[in-house]
Amino acid sequence: MSSDGVNTGRRRFLTAATSVVGVAGAVGIAVPFVGSWNPSAKAKAAGAPVKADISKLEPGQMVVVEWRGKPVYVVYRTEDQLADLDKLTDELKDPDSSEAKQPEYVDGAARARPVRPEIFVAEGLCTHLGCAPKYRPEVGAADLGGDEWLGGFFCPCHGSKFDLSGRVYNGAPASANLVIPSYFYESENVMVIGMDAEAA
Ligand code: FES
Repeated sequence: MSSDGVNTGRRRFLTAATSVVGVAGAVGIAVPFVGSWNPSAKAKAAGAPVKADISKLEPGQMVVVEWRGKPVYVVYRTEDQLADLDKLTDELKDPDSSEAKQPEYVDGAARARPVRPEIFVAEGLCTHLGCAPKYRPEVGAADLGGDEWLGGFFCPCHGSKFDLSGRVYNGAPASANLVIPSYFYESENVMVIGMDAEAA
């Protein structure tokens, strides 16, 4: 009886020990892997550059690309829209983007890489409190100033207006131009957003 009791107890112990080792073994393999690899993979994914194929984008259109959880606007401006950018200097807080957050290789009123000045790329977050400005390309939109409106972005939260280069208008609650992330062209129609060509 005592040996039965010992055996039973031992069997129980072995069963318990086996199941603990089994779980511990599985956990032992899984936890370091999941624990150390997953966060870094997530972190990498969160900060990784994204590619955008703009071959289907037509003049006047905008697409939104997600990068680091943020919307990035990619706008294909028409020749007229590009030409209009120089007319707005007096209406803007920072027409030369001297205070703007943008890579040094984006240039002039177009605020774009010179290789494709018609393509505008910017974070789609208002520099006031972070709402997503709406793309309003219609020249002369009655609700945005009529004849004086040459197309741009309008933030509905508190009424900030930006031109088609993301430059903020005078009188807007937002104080800065839209932020331009790093980007380059991997080929004529494939953009990489979130990285400079030099770092690729
Ligand atoms: S968040 Fe855009 S105007 Fe306030």
